[in-house]
Amino acid sequence: ATHTTLPERDCSSITPPYAQLQHKLADVRELLGNRPLTLAEKILYSHIADPNKSLADGKLKRGETYLQLSPERVAMQDASAQMALLQFMSAGMTKCAVPTSIHCDHLIQAVNGAEADLKRSIASNQEVFDFLESAARKYGIEFWKPGSGIIHQIVLENYAAPGMLMLGTDSHTPNAGGLGMLAIGVGGADAVDAMTGTPWELKAPQVVGIHLTGSLSGWATPKDLILHLAGKLTVRGGTGRILEYFGPGVFNQSCTGLATVANMGAEVGATTSTFPYTPNMRSYLVATGRAPVAHAADAAASKGFLSADEGAEYDEVIEINLSELEPTINGPFTPDLATPLSKFGDFVKEQGWKDELSAGLIGSCTNSSYEDMTSVADLARQAKAAGLKVKVPFLCTPGSEQIRATMERDQVTGALQEVGATVLANACGPCIGQWKRDDKKDEENAILTSFNRNFKSRNDGNRLTMNFLASPTVVTAFSFAGKLSFNPMTDTILTPSGVPFKFTPPKGQDLPTAGFTPGETGFYPSPTPEPQPETEVIIRPDSQRLEVLEPFSSHFGEGTGNLRGLELPPLKVLMRVRGKCTTDHISAAGPWLKYKGHLTNISENLLITASNDEGGDVNVAFDHEHESSQSETDTIPNVAKRFKARKQPWALVVDENYGEGSAREHAALQPRFYGCAMIVARSFARIHETNLKKQGILPLWFADKADYARIGSGDVVETLGLADLLTGVPGATIKLKVTKRNGDVFEIPTKHTMSSDQLKWLRAGSALNHIRSQVQS
Ligand code: F3S
Repeated sequence: ATHTTLPERDCSSITPPYAQLQHKLADVRELLGNRPLTLAEKILYSHIADPNKSLADGKLKRGETYLQLSPERVAMQDASAQMALLQFMSAGMTKCAVPTSIHCDHLIQAVNGAEADLKRSIASNQEVFDFLESAARKYGIEFWKPGSGIIHQIVLENYAAPGMLMLGTDSHTPNAGGLGMLAIGVGGADAVDAMTGTPWELKAPQVVGIHLTGSLSGWATPKDLILHLAGKLTVRGGTGRILEYFGPGVFNQSCTGLATVANMGAEVGATTSTFPYTPNMRSYLVATGRAPVAHAADAAASKGFLSADEGAEYDEVIEINLSELEPTINGPFTPDLATPLSKFGDFVKEQGWKDELSAGLIGSCTNSSYEDMTSVADLARQAKAAGLKVKVPFLCTPGSEQIRATMERDQVTGALQEVGATVLANACGPCIGQWKRDDKKDEENAILTSFNRNFKSRNDGNRLTMNFLASPTVVTAFSFAGKLSFNPMTDTILTPSGVPFKFTPPKGQDLPTAGFTPGETGFYPSPTPEPQPETEVIIRPDSQRLEVLEPFSSHFGEGTGNLRGLELPPLKVLMRVRGKCTTDHISAAGPWLKYKGHLTNISENLLITASNDEGGDVNVAFDHEHESSQSETDTIPNVAKRFKARKQPWALVVDENYGEGSAREHAALQPRFYGCAMIVARSFARIHETNLKKQGILPLWFADKADYARIGSGDVVETLGLADLLTGVPGATIKLKVTKRNGDVFEIPTKHTMSSDQLKWLRAGSALNHIRSQVQS
């Protein structure tokens, strides 16, 4: 039996409507000819808004068919919620169509420990928190204030439930998959779909089955499973796919361990990750005060709803024997560069890096479960007994107030502090660049984190900081050794008394024996608050952080000549972006986070870390029609501004997997704000491609990837065939007519993924324009 000190909660608003979902699934099954289904399919298809309409022809092909879905819940973090709410406000509704929550976590800066950091961050972000809180009150949204914890941990502890479908405005939303559901990271504009009750569209993902056998042992943790898999699949391997784990190895792991695995599915670009319902999920639900959800899930599971059917077909099956896994360290600068721990020292030597660790960071939404924290505390106690302290700054961000308070009560925090750890606020902090680090400025150095993402500059704003991802226990052991060549499985550390000390493999506890304690109860919002329509949403007129969102006007305008506004106007190419271009490159985080709600101000960071393929320079663009008072070369945002001032709509040419990384919709809003109408890519990352469509930018794929190099800055591109597509001519394709600066003209074929509804958004100028016209009519 699990003991809990959390009161059992009223679970009516958080229990999925299993009977209704199973009923709908039965309808879909019939339409599909009763073939066996994967778990991911069951969850998705039971949330199709109107199966008889969208599946009338009985055809549903994974990887091809667009589904219109009705998610059950929305969660937003404080940075992305700003723009989502600004958009929701302009849709003209009085309350959210589905339960929605806001979590204040990204805006808390780590400087010198929880209490002071929280106080300072609240003061410096007051107007944003006031805006979010007032909008939450007006529209009946649950508001988790600063200090309450990180969105994904809070969702797992409070809202996630087996079989549920939810959206979150953050790319690590899939974390909730640890409870056997589908949680999908989206841009604010997609969240607005769910919040307005508009069916949310998703191309039916392929399903990769990951068959787990064996069990983890020694130093290997669930984090190592996903680090290993990231190395196998690469950052593109999950694109357009759901990772569905199955097999006996799933049942050996804690619910929170599965959440870590699901969390980092985002790093391989997966739509989301999920697992069949397990007894450990049940225990976690009960331990977090949700026994009624567990009972309902038990009943649904007994009817086969929460696992795959016998004989279900996966698009690919990957076999992993957990017993063979060893700890893995991924990085630097990309999460798929995986090196087994036993080879890491050699790898560091081969690269010629200094054998020196400069900081260890644990926690974050990826790894701050009770199991993680008790495992690292075990290592800390072993080290303390040997007279050791950490050799480098060692920072810990607990995932939630519940975890923080439980850690404190169970002397986990004390064990960490005694060896020199600093416990930061329950927030994202260094994981999202909110780390005021005074040492190592502009200096090459290596940090080890238990986080999930390691793009350049992500943690401390220093492009030379190499961030290696590892399990919390590996990070902790390395922090005692202070060097990169250390292997805690084999190596020793010399204690002050000159005796070699070797760690024994860490042991953690998945759930607290005495139950979780809620901690400071003032952090918990009232469940399902009533909307208060009389509340005024607070936006100061002189604000530099928040700005009412003005609708974008349609690119198609009135139309001229025989195009009648159905082809895009001729577009000038602003630049050809070289290589990796993540949403961090398009819209940098760190100091820019404070402008998330102010489109004019944040647009000053457009593509400032992107490389121009013409010349290879970072943040350089060419303006071939510059005025005599202007230079031909300028920063990318400045050239974009010049185009905007000239009312010159423009296009970008980009490389592979453009927009990988986070669900940051600003990466689509900002180019749109400056007048971008089309982006032509070798390939797109899914979330970002959808975001472009939402904001009225046409994403096109080169049919022949070699055409990428044939278009450069200052060339003019025109669409041919968009008119047919917009008017519904079957089989219509789009070509591009390219007029080079020297007058040469040629045409190239393209591909696209636009659905008929998405074409309506493009025509209206944005999805929001389209929604508003419907709310009004
Ligand atoms: Fe926050 Fe980092 Fe997770 S930014 S939500 S802790 S990935």
